[in-house]
Amino acid sequence: MKYIIIFITAFLTSVILISCSDINEDITKPELPGYHEKGINNPISDVFHGKIIRDNNWSMKNCAQCHAGDYSGGVVQASCLTCHTQPNGPEACNTCHGDFADPSRIAPPRALNESIDKNYPGVGAHVSHLYNNKIGADISCSNCHIVPSGLYSEGHLGDDNKAEINFGALAIAQGVSPNYNFQNNTCSDTYCHGNFVFYRDSSNSPWIYTAPTMRGNNFLVKWNQFDPSGSQAQCGSCHGIPPLGHQPYTITECANCHTGIVDNLGNISDRSKHINGVINVFGN
Ligand code: HEC
Ligand code: HEC
Ligand code: HEC
Ligand code: HEC
Ligand code: HEC
Ligand code: HEC
Repeated sequence: MKYIIIFITAFLTSVILISCSDINEDITKPELPGYHEKGINNPISDVFHGKIIRDNNWSMKNCAQCHAGDYSGGVVQASCLTCHTQPNGPEACNTCHGDFADPSRIAPPRALNESIDKNYPGVGAHVSHLYNNKIGADISCSNCHIVPSGLYSEGHLGDDNKAEINFGALAIAQGVSPNYNFQNNTCSDTYCHGNFVFYRDSSNSPWIYTAPTMRGNNFLVKWNQFDPSGSQAQCGSCHGIPPLGHQPYTITECANCHTGIVDNLGNISDRSKHINGVINVFGN
């Protein structure tokens, strides 16, 4: 009953408001009186609508009751789409995480708590993996997460406000089983960081082997640790130069056989063929 009264009052207020004045879409506009507290449109207010949604475990189902299922205004004629202009409005994938101004960047930063600090686990090394990867093939979220098709897809909104880590794609190449440790934020046993083994017996080039197997270093990385030397992903961290079980060469010689992948200074020249799950040698 109480709800219905609030609802009717809110509805009437908004009808009066909307018929009397043009709504100014600017976020800094004076607050509207009515159903919500002052501050609903002010990102630094404690009652900013983003914070209300966060406190409601990120569900917008109750907002849709008044503002319409497609957020176009509904019975209260207050549209979310004036500000949330992307397809799917506030359900767009960069609304709550990623760059609010750039729909192509849906991974943190920013994190769910608004952090942009890469030492914070919610931000971590997303950028160097996804958007600024200089040494490896482009990777997608599906290497580390199950990607929801929509906001309310099963498994997306959990109750702990932490992402689930479910490794897939390249991270599990060769059938390996990586692990992410939520206590110390380390990542172990990923194919990408050198948990790989190639076998002389099944090789087209057994002569390049010095042992029955050629293997990477299975390097343990810390997701949210950065140092200027880049020691987490420098040459020699994921696999030796060259790897264990490979005939010895210097870094300037790799290009003789791994042509097009590295140049003769040892820089990755075609990152689409490095860390891509397959052997690339002799121009392949
Ligand atoms: C007047 C403009 C405006 C309107 C109208 C508006 N929003 Fe927002 N909304 C914003 C801005 C700006 C942000 C981002 C604030 C930030 O992160 O700095 C935001 C953030 C959000 C977030 C993310 C919260 C977070 O903390 O990450 C959600 C979810 C959201 N809005 C839902 C809605 C819904 C649902 C409606 C309609 C019922 C709505 N918004 C109407 C401007 C608006
Ligand atoms: C009971 C109905 C009702 C519910 C539920 C409701 N709103 Fe509103 N909302 C209104 C009304 C009415 C207005 C018009 C201004 C006012 O009265 O405060 C409004 C205005 C807004 C505005 C300002 C829009 C603008 O153009 O400036 C935002 C943002 C907003 N609501 C967000 C939300 C969010 C987010 C939720 C869910 C957490 C939500 N509302 C749930 C009734 C509701
Ligand atoms: C290389 C692995 C990896 C990839 C690829 C990756 N993530 Fe993450 N993601 C993580 C890790 C690790 C965490 C932090 C988990 C923790 O400790 O809370 C995380 C956390 C998150 C969080 C929670 C942020 C917070 O505030 O706690 C979101 C949201 C997220 N990732 C979205 C994405 C999206 C979207 C993509 C693709 C565009 C993506 N991630 C790609 C590993 C990855
Ligand atoms: C209303 C806010 C909101 C919107 C919109 C949103 N997400 Fe999320 N997303 C979250 C939250 C909260 C989490 C952490 C959930 C948890 O506790 O497990 C998350 C986590 C993720 C993760 C990490 C894996 C996981 O499920 O924990 C991925 C990937 C992701 N979102 C992708 C997307 C994609 C793709 C879209 C667009 C279809 C999207 N998100 C839209 C709030 C949102
Ligand atoms: C993040 C881990 C990682 C780092 C750092 C790394 N590599 Fe690799 N590298 C791999 C993996 C995994 C493979 C296995 C083959 C594949 O999937 O591409 C590989 C394969 C190679 C190959 C064989 C060609 C191929 O791609 O099949 C060469 C040559 C090579 N790396 C050179 C380098 C050089 C030079 C550096 C430093 C610039 C470097 N790697 C740094 C992970 C790494
Ligand atoms: C004389 C040719 C030759 C040189 C020089 C050479 N490799 Fe290789 N390497 C090969 C061949 C052939 C294979 C593939 C083995 C197979 O097919 O089983 C291979 C395999 C590898 C692998 C594992 C499988 C793959 O392709 O990812 C890595 C990593 C690698 N080499 C790195 C290096 C690095 C780093 C250097 C330079 C220090 C180097 N190699 C120099 C011929 C060479």
